Parts: sequence; structure tokens; C-alpha cells
Amino acid sequence: MAFSPKAFHPLMLLFALLLVSQLSNAQTNLPIVPGLSWTFYNTSCPRVEAIIRNRLTQIFQNDSAQAAGLLRLHFHDCFVQGCDGSVLLDGSASGPSEKNAPPNLSLRAQSFTIINELRDLVQRNCGRVVSCSDIVAISARDSVAWSGGPDYRVPLGRRDGLTFATRNETIKNLPPPTSSAGALLAALASNQNLSATDLVALSGGHTIGFSSCFSFRNRLFPQDFTMNLTLAASLRGVCPTNTSTNFTFLDPRTPRRFDNQYYINLVNREGLFTSDQDLFTDVRTSNIVNGFAANQTLFFEEFVRSMVKMGQLSVLTGSQGEIRGNCSARNAPSAVDLASVVREYGSESGSGSGSGSGSGSSATF
Ligand code: HEM
Repeated sequence: MAFSPKAFHPLMLLFALLLVSQLSNAQTNLPIVPGLSWTFYNTSCPRVEAIIRNRLTQIFQNDSAQAAGLLRLHFHDCFVQGCDGSVLLDGSASGPSEKNAPPNLSLRAQSFTIINELRDLVQRNCGRVVSCSDIVAISARDSVAWSGGPDYRVPLGRRDGLTFATRNETIKNLPPPTSSAGALLAALASNQNLSATDLVALSGGHTIGFSSCFSFRNRLFPQDFTMNLTLAASLRGVCPTNTSTNFTFLDPRTPRRFDNQYYINLVNREGLFTSDQDLFTDVRTSNIVNGFAANQTLFFEEFVRSMVKMGQLSVLTGSQGEIRGNCSARNAPSAVDLASVVREYGSESGSGSGSGSGSGSSATF
């Protein structure tokens, strides 16, 4: 019997529902750190995820490339000083920001604008209760899902950091694309406590998005012979000299689709960066690459696991940090905060009322 489109659709729907429920069941077993929760905003802002998804859907429909930018933003936030929104902060009198450190200069300017716009929308609906770092984590998930990747639940409740990292800390924690797999394995193990499987799964983020010639010129000038020669010739068309400033897709085969094609490319020696291709060369990671190239479901499962893990690196929770009113700047001390400082100071010197009111976090800003 022919497999007619009429019979095909309900079956595909059933399959998709089964897959989603399997993924969510698998997810409930994922460990989450104290202070984060799967249901954090259920009472304070129950529609937060719907608000973000609706707005991002409009944005991606206009410009699908923004999805890659938001996914990368979450990675750059989490690897430096934890997922605390520190990458979003503008510089201050105390020094240039993390945002201005070399590895972050190629983040998309629009990603920062989008996060602030989402924060504005959410704040208008719920008040200042949702952190910028949670908005970044939700946006990264929505970017993956919108591009055809797994839709997964994000543990929430992160608070925003009060400081940003120095230039050196930022460089130390965001490895360059010229890194070998060995260097990446060592860096991720010592700085982030992430495994070889996490490294390979997270690198699968390179299934969408763009790169400038600058990031892979080391593989063209001189020619890196681990790169497929046809790809090398086509890349030299885009980047004719080692000072070219053009851009190309990270995954030239399915550039806008979140799938396992990135790993198939690595097996075919069509990875773009040294840090990508070397995952297939190094014996400690090559079998993981082969596994993901052969089985997209396996890749999606491991990607979700590793994203949820990465999304909890050194998070601030409870009364740590703050909920920023503007994702690009620390909150100014509010009248209530100032009053409590004065009270605390006063009570220390023996003249205050002594009834501190806590963090003052409910003050409007
Ligand atoms: C493992 C080490 C990693 C290195 C060395 C690395 C390096 C890079 C570089 C150099 C670019 C291109 C920058 C440019 O020239 O414009 C890039 C783009 C990108 N990276 Fe990574 N990356 C790594 C891990 C990750 C992870 C863990 C994710 C997400 C899970 C990710 C997601 C992306 C995305 C989506 C883009 C495209 C961004 C856009 O189109 O705006 N990367 N990465």
C-alpha cells in the first residue's frame, strides 16, 4: 500500500509527540542546582516563556540569522563567570566590559538589542521579576527549537551579576577557534567542569550561523590539508586573502537548520574551524563525532543534556545578584536600597532603628 500524505501526517504528528514527551521525560532526570527550578516563574510571571517565544518567532521570521546570534550569546555568557548576564553589561568607569573583550566583539549587536527588548516586554507584563540571564537562556532554547532542533525545558531562577569579568578572564574562558581538541578538552574540564561529550555536543551549535574569514584564515593561509580540498577552494573564493573581512556559513550544507549535518561535515573533513575539525581527528572525541553523525536523535539528547548543564554554570540564585531593570547596566541603588544602607550604617553607629527590611528588591526602579 502506498504511503499517502493523508496517512503520513497523523503518524508523523504522533511520532513528534512521542519524541517530545520522551525528551521531556528524559529531562526531568537532569540534575539542577539548588535555587533553580523548572517552575520558577509559575506564579510571578506564568507567561514569560510564551511572551519571549511569540516575539522571537516574529523576529526570526524577519531574519532567521538572529537565532544563531542568541544561541552563541548564551554560551558566551555562561563560560565567563557563569550564566549571570555579565556579557550584557556595558563598560563603566571601573574599566572596559566583558562585552568589549576580543572574543565578544564578534557577537551580534542585534542580540543585545533583542534581549533588552524582550526584557522590556516581560517587565511590562510582570514587573521586574525575570532576570536578563534567564531571558538569554530561554532565547537560546527558542533559537534552537525554531531552527528545527530539540525543544527543551530550561531550569529558571538565575539572578543577574553585579560585575563583569576582566578582559583577561574573558579571553581565558572563551577558547579561540584555532584551539586543538586537546586544548579544548583541558580548558573545558578545568574551567567549566565539562566532559568530552559536552564539548562535542555543544560544538554542534555550529550547525547554524556565520563566521568571518578571520576565524578560519589559519586553515587557508597556509592550506590546512585536513580540510576537504573542494571546501578549501570554495572558502578561498569567499576569503581570497588573509585579511579578507567576508562572512560564510558555519555549516555550508544546511546553514539555517539545526541538525546533525555539522558532524557529517566533520567526518567529510568539511569542518570550518580547527576547533571543529580536530574533534574528528582526536581519538578522545572522534567516536562521539561518529555517533552524532550517524544518529541525530542521540545528538539532540546529548545537546539538551549539555545545554542544561552549561546553562547552570556558576549561576547566582536566591538573594545573590539582582534582577536588572536594564540588561546593559547594573541597577542604580533605589530609594529603598539607599534607605536600608543608611539604616544599616546608622544602626552600626548605634543610632538606627535596627529593623532592616531585607534586600529591598521589590522597590520599583
Ligand atoms: C568549543 C569552543 C568554541 C569555539 C572555539 C567557538 C568559536 C566560534 C567562532 C570563532 C565563531 C565565529 C565568530 C565570527 O568570526 O564571527 C563562532 C560562531 C558561532 N558559535 Fe561558536 N565556538 C565554540 C563553542 C560554541 C558553543 C558551545 C556554541 C553554542 C552551544 C556555539 C555557537 C555558535 C554559533 C551559533 C555561532 C554563529 C553565530 C552567528 O551567526 O552570529 N559555539 N563560534
